[in-house]
Amino acid sequence: MALKLNPLVISCQKFSSLHLASAVNLRSPKLIMASTQSSSNGEQFLELLAREVADSNGFCEAKSLTLFLLLWLYQEIARDVENLKKSYNPPRKINVQVTHSMPPQKIEIFKSMEDWAEKNILVHLKPVEKSWQPQDFLPNSASEGFIEQVKELREQSKEIPDDYLVVLVGDMITEEALPTYQTMLNTADGVRDETGASPTSWAVWTRAWTAEENRHGDLLNKYLYLTGRVDMKQIEKTIQYLIGSGMDPLTENNPYLGFIYTSFQERATFISHGNTAKLAKEHGDMKLSQICRTIAADEKRHETAYTKIVEKLFEIDPDGTVLAFADMMRKNILMPAHLMYDGKDDNLFRNFSAVAHRLGVYTVNDYADILEFLVGRWNLEKLTGLSSEGRKSQDYVCGLAARIKRMDGKVQGMDKETPTIPFSWIFNRQVKL
Ligand SMILES: [Fe+2]
Ligand SMILES: [Fe+2]
Repeated sequence: MALKLNPLVISCQKFSSLHLASAVNLRSPKLIMASTQSSSNGEQFLELLAREVADSNGFCEAKSLTLFLLLWLYQEIARDVENLKKSYNPPRKINVQVTHSMPPQKIEIFKSMEDWAEKNILVHLKPVEKSWQPQDFLPNSASEGFIEQVKELREQSKEIPDDYLVVLVGDMITEEALPTYQTMLNTADGVRDETGASPTSWAVWTRAWTAEENRHGDLLNKYLYLTGRVDMKQIEKTIQYLIGSGMDPLTENNPYLGFIYTSFQERATFISHGNTAKLAKEHGDMKLSQICRTIAADEKRHETAYTKIVEKLFEIDPDGTVLAFADMMRKNILMPAHLMYDGKDDNLFRNFSAVAHRLGVYTVNDYADILEFLVGRWNLEKLTGLSSEGRKSQDYVCGLAARIKRMDGKVQGMDKETPTIPFSWIFNRQVKL
């Protein structure tokens, strides 16, 4: 809360200890957090001071100046807290949020799937000892040849164009916001990790999935740092902003919606990392191409697991699952980093997405292809035994990819000027959208 006191007015007023005490009560939470012991001492001091001023029955200049300074300080701190709160908030407003939309009785479905998940989902994880690690692709800082290896890496990456760097940085930042994605999975009813070390199959999956994903941002981050081509401080600020903002994929703590979302997302990241791999090769950076390909392979494995879960849900509850699928598609699958911000560009995510689209890393057509793939993967067209609402959802979802492609075709055919804008991630160099 900001203090609404005007220091100029305060300095001309006669103060009572009551006035000051009320000002003290408006002190910022930051002050309370910073020091509990000393703040109560400070309060006592202020009250004493205020009493003295009141008792002096007139305005002593020195005392009023002290008061003025103290209140000004409080005002400044309160303003600081206000700005701090703003800086955590995303640049765009979050819609009204729906929570816990799955009927409670359906939690039983997920409980009954525990054994199935152990046998069918956990098998898609890789044991740590057989997993690749970022170090397998990076110069070894403990070796004598480290400097030479870094030079080689920089040599290989020097032909990478700025627009590609913007897309790779955006992909890396998306991977780095992993704490948010684990939080999302752990807000889903019936499958969340209740303790942080729960032995249920769902919880084991979520932790191990997170641990596998953690290597993606780690590797891309270290690689980009070593190239010397990007502004790491701006990138790091964007990561901090993004994790602070969270995400709002409209999955409503509902694991039906959540697993449809993750199925879609894993395939989207499989496609985009696959495309950055292809482009890195074209730009002569074979190491980067290998890195992106390796990450894409992980995403594919994760896609297999999540689509299997939804396939099982279609088997157990076809009507509920098709309604959830249609619901998710009507709301649009928002990308996980949709609240991205670098402290400068309020449209950073839109601008990054526009560059990714122009380079063919992730396009509207890919979105429609993913939808088409999932419709086929879950055999949606042949789904039977649905309610009338279920059949409407089935028709909607089955026809949606073609409609998106038709619309995209029309937009592509339109003559449009593409602006060029600066990206802080590459020292404000200009990139065409
Ligand atoms: Fe990933
Ligand atoms: Fe992933």
